[in-house]
Amino acid sequence: MLTPVLSRHWDDPQIHTIDGYESHDGYLAARKALAMDPDAVIQLVKDSGLRGRGGAGFPTGMKWGFIPQGDGKPHYLVVNADESEPGTCKDVPLMLANPHVLLEGVIIASYAIRAKHAFIYVRGEVAHVIRRLNQAVKDAYAKGYLGADAFGTGYGLDVIVHAGAGAYICGEETALLDSLEGYRGQPRLRPPFPATHGLYASPTVVNNVESIASVPAIVLGGAEWFGSMGTEKSKGFTLYSLSGHVKNPGQYEAPLGITLRQLLDLAGGMRDGHQLKFWTPGGSSTPILTDAHLDVPLDYEAVVTAGSMLGTKALQCFDDTTCVVRAVLRWTEFYAHESCGKCTPCREGTYWMVQILERLEKGEGTEEDLTTLLDTCDNIFGRSFCALGDGATSPIVSGIQLFREEFVAHMTQGGCPFDPIASTVFASAPPAGVGAR
Ligand SMILES: Cc1cc2nc3c(=O)[nH]c(=O)nc-3n(C[C@H](O)[C@H](O)[C@H](O)COP(=O)(O)O)c2cc1C
Ligand code: SF4
Repeated sequence: MLTPVLSRHWDDPQIHTIDGYESHDGYLAARKALAMDPDAVIQLVKDSGLRGRGGAGFPTGMKWGFIPQGDGKPHYLVVNADESEPGTCKDVPLMLANPHVLLEGVIIASYAIRAKHAFIYVRGEVAHVIRRLNQAVKDAYAKGYLGADAFGTGYGLDVIVHAGAGAYICGEETALLDSLEGYRGQPRLRPPFPATHGLYASPTVVNNVESIASVPAIVLGGAEWFGSMGTEKSKGFTLYSLSGHVKNPGQYEAPLGITLRQLLDLAGGMRDGHQLKFWTPGGSSTPILTDAHLDVPLDYEAVVTAGSMLGTKALQCFDDTTCVVRAVLRWTEFYAHESCGKCTPCREGTYWMVQILERLEKGEGTEEDLTTLLDTCDNIFGRSFCALGDGATSPIVSGIQLFREEFVAHMTQGGCPFDPIASTVFASAPPAGVGAR
């Protein structure tokens, strides 16, 4: 059931070194790709059906194909390694375990889009990852895999590792480009799109770490092999990050289309004596689901049909001891804190939603608060400048849809029914599992 490709050699203590990586066929794909026509590399990635692993699932080869050729402008590849979505924790372990597979993907992608400069924009807090990436880049230069004459082919590529200052909004691709240019990270108006007016107003591809790191395996294994895994429209292997009340949380690399039930089996299930209550399929910006959705195939289409989104495949699992109102409040506090302030619906709306949720969580809310909360979400969703605003509404709308009675229980009990102190103060019996936190 597992298909370890990206994570295949993570248990080799030397895999992060250039020699360790090369002992497992590392950089063979780059040699092969650099001997191909760049357009053939783009076609191969198109044929593989690889879709962006950064959240939206946009076809990677098609994105590369949008870069205008023969325009005389510099082209850029930017790897989005900002990974900040609550629950999302796959790119950091990937870069830490095997930085060279990302670098090899960078070489191949840059060659395909005719870029001579590539940037890896990493979240600044992960200093250990930045150190490891810098070492990997240094070693690749020393071996002649980067620089003016990569692999002796005459193709020149420079790679710059850039540390961001740690803002969720800088993961949004246009805010990332502003930040990379030295400006305050805020989203840009689109069109024009980065494919024509990206970094320094030049054609730019922005791809997620996992998307780019998947490319070397596709070049070596072929499009057919990659497409033999996954579903018809969501092809290949991917990293699912299981976190929360799971016995063995971590990265599980499996084909797209696997279910949470199967992944939980692999992860030893939920912690003893407790049941799954709700979960996110792709981080906090994707509507929550419940145990009724355990058999939904985790691919881009089926998760949408179930009412959510696959997003970053960050499966945060919460058991029956978790207060959904408190969880939704915590997520909303995150969005209010990370809202960049550029547009009114998100800047004001996230602030007010926190105020209302705080009231509700303390048991001081009213039915009218629930209506106002949903109305505020309605005014943010589709009316914000970027997808952060839309994402902020996901936990609230889905939380109320699926667990309205729990929001109401806070009002009727005058406090959180999951709070062990409140549950002794208030007469009604707390729900099963309360106090086990
Ligand atoms: C608020 C916000 C934060 C985002 N953060 C990230 C991130 O940390 N990493 C990432 O790859 N994509 C992130 N994205 C998505 C990017 O804008 C973009 O779609 C992605 O990097 C494209 O890569 P892909 O096509 O390989 O998926 C974010 C989007 C939004 C709206
Ligand atoms: S939606 Fe939020 S994060 Fe996005 S531009 Fe508006 S204020 Fe900034």
